[in-house]
Amino acid sequence: MKEPVKLKDKDFVPFKEEKPNSSRAVVYYDKKSNEMGKRPSRKEKVRAEKLTFYYGTKQALQNINLDIIANEVTALIGPSGCGKTTFLRIINRMNDLISGSKVEGNVFIDGDDIYHPDVDVVELRRRVGLVFQQPNPFPKTIYENVAYGPRIHGIRKKAYLDEIVEESLKQAALWDEVKDRLKDSALSLSGGQQQRLCIARVLAVRPEVLLMDEPTSALDPVATQRIEDLIGTLAANYTIIIVTHNMQQAARISDTTAFFLLGEMVEQGKTSQIFTRPRDRRTEEYITGRFG
Ligand SMILES: Nc1ncnc2c1ncn2[C@@H]1O[C@H](COP(=O)(O)OP(=O)(O)O)[C@@H](O)[C@H]1O
Ligand SMILES: [Mg+2]
Repeated sequence: MKEPVKLKDKDFVPFKEEKPNSSRAVVYYDKKSNEMGKRPSRKEKVRAEKLTFYYGTKQALQNINLDIIANEVTALIGPSGCGKTTFLRIINRMNDLISGSKVEGNVFIDGDDIYHPDVDVVELRRRVGLVFQQPNPFPKTIYENVAYGPRIHGIRKKAYLDEIVEESLKQAALWDEVKDRLKDSALSLSGGQQQRLCIARVLAVRPEVLLMDEPTSALDPVATQRIEDLIGTLAANYTIIIVTHNMQQAARISDTTAFFLLGEMVEQGKTSQIFTRPRDRRTEEYITGRFG
């Protein structure tokens, strides 16, 4: 008998009503551990257990076991076609939309099975936001892009929406650049600004997990740097899983790295360990550029 799921019982709570971190079980550095100069215990946020995935008859993932720690940045690396995007999309059930796809094994968030039949998928996708490789703002105003999600989740009051839009744009490090032009089209923004807008749009519904699929691969170095800095600050409040084919980026921004190859998760470890002392020969060959 499975445990009852709690996912659908969580109400949408607008931004300002809580201080950052107040509802979260884990803060990156709590006061006490900070004083003692120690890191607090690490809490698991997402867990994949014996996860196998098929597109029709094509198997894309094979027996993945992976733990994602709360308030960390986890990087997924590996050559093209090894299943990184597939894995991300399983975590917010975007793959449900692909006919003939099949999931075996389990994915848990805070211990709840996200493929349990009682799970509210709309609520799951609020809690687990996805940022795509190409910035994809709606052809609407900057304001409407950010207000869109909260509106769908039932927020109607203009003053409330204004607050959420401002908070989200601030968290996405975009507010100062757009506060005087919120009614302009989102498409008038630069590529880097559009990607930060897409991050603000996801943050506006107060997610817990942020999935980012090569979020800087379409951006220039300056815009990339801004997103990398942003990811660093967001990790205090969110659990972040980022796919990147840029190994310097993984080394710069992540706490933990998982190496995927041919649909398997070969090795997961602290980023510093993966890049300096990989345990598996295939990881070593990949990070030293011998294939991929
Ligand atoms: N919609 C789909 N239908 C069938 N096969 C797919 C689909 N999407 C991805 N694949 C296949 O699944 C494998 C993993 O793809 P993907 O998760 O996109 O890899 P990555 O993100 O690591 O490049 C690849 O072989 C790819 O061709
Ligand atoms: Mg991909």
